[in-house]
Amino acid sequence: MAVVTEEQIREALGTVNDPEIKRPITELGMVDVITIEEAQITVRLLLTVSGCPLKDTLTRDITAAVATVAPAHAVVVDMGVMTDEQRKSMQELLRGGRTEREVPFAQAGSLTKVFAIASGKGGVGKSTVTVNLGLAMAKRGLKVGIVDADIYGHSIPDMLGVGDLRPTQVEDMIMPVPVKGMKVISIGMLKPRRDQVVAWRGPMLDRALVQMLSDVYWGDLDVLLLDLPPGTGDMAISLGQHLPNAEVLVVTTPQPAAAIIAERAGTMASMMHQRVVGVLENMSYLQVPGGERMEIFGSGGAAKVAETLTARFGYDVPMLGQIPLDEHLREGGDSGDPIVETDPDSEAAKILQGVADQLSGRSRGLVGMQLGLAPAGRL
Ligand SMILES: Nc1ncnc2c1ncn2[C@@H]1O[C@H](COP(=O)(O)OP(=O)(O)OP(=O)(O)O)[C@@H](O)[C@H]1O
Ligand SMILES: [Mg+2]
Repeated sequence: MAVVTEEQIREALGTVNDPEIKRPITELGMVDVITIEEAQITVRLLLTVSGCPLKDTLTRDITAAVATVAPAHAVVVDMGVMTDEQRKSMQELLRGGRTEREVPFAQAGSLTKVFAIASGKGGVGKSTVTVNLGLAMAKRGLKVGIVDADIYGHSIPDMLGVGDLRPTQVEDMIMPVPVKGMKVISIGMLKPRRDQVVAWRGPMLDRALVQMLSDVYWGDLDVLLLDLPPGTGDMAISLGQHLPNAEVLVVTTPQPAAAIIAERAGTMASMMHQRVVGVLENMSYLQVPGGERMEIFGSGGAAKVAETLTARFGYDVPMLGQIPLDEHLREGGDSGDPIVETDPDSEAAKILQGVADQLSGRSRGLVGMQLGLAPAGRL
């Protein structure tokens, strides 16, 4: 039987990624002792938590990787659990030297484009827009993260069909939940129980936002989308403080009453030194079978907001699109299957896809930086 060395086995194991963290198990310090016997190789693997749900995947991948260098040996994967010390050093590695509580997306040199989806009024479709934009961008191959920052009305997990999933935690580092090629964290996932009602005021909201941005292991993201609660409350202020480089997308219906409040959300963003990237109109009209468009909520809201904000800020705030009322869009939200996936040729999905392209196609990183970031430090 050919002689295989421990080094060769470690090298082969370097191709196995931890399914959640998506980094090689060798790099994460998960491969402990490798024992080579005549007919059998035993790999002792240290899991971050004893009840790791992905044991089977890891065993399968490790067995396959070892077989590439030692095809004639039987492979045994012996599972252990990391000590507190080991978990801490893994966490340090994942943080990449960052100290705790730093928001990676606000650091000079971050290449992640951050978009906050805001509105004045509630129920205008922010969360629907967020999941569909995220998915549209992910379908184009971008690495997308979504933060559901709507404390009282968190709805992103249900809209993506993962309402019951909870993130894995390693020490005080949280792994975002992988969904449809994206990484998602919701304030709802940080509550001990799904049905728990939270009554948090400003400081607690701020802590929750920082936790979702800095204690979550996001890895390298191209785009981060934040679904905000409606209005100009505490969360919008916290966001402005922690992510001044976020660009804000204002969602409104065509209704004049909604549009006036949407203007306030845009102005709030500007006061926090964030750039308003555009206005998106939702529920613009209903296409009836005869071809006629019924303007159920009136017309012109987003165009008016875009015009007012452009005049107020002195830069172009475009109207990015008009999404019609669409039963499938609502159904997709309720069932966890966003329309850009289930009905990509519908008018609503095409507009959402177009907005996603407009937002992500723009040069990465440099647009909208106003505070706290040094352009010279960026690529
Ligand atoms: N264009 C549309 N056509 C039909 N239904 C829609 C459309 N946009 C959103 N909806 C539906 O309207 C409801 C409200 O949408 P959504 O939850 O996305 O709004 P929101 O602005 O996030 O609300 P909140 O302020 O409560 O967070 C949902 O049931 C959603 O499925
Ligand atoms: Mg919402």
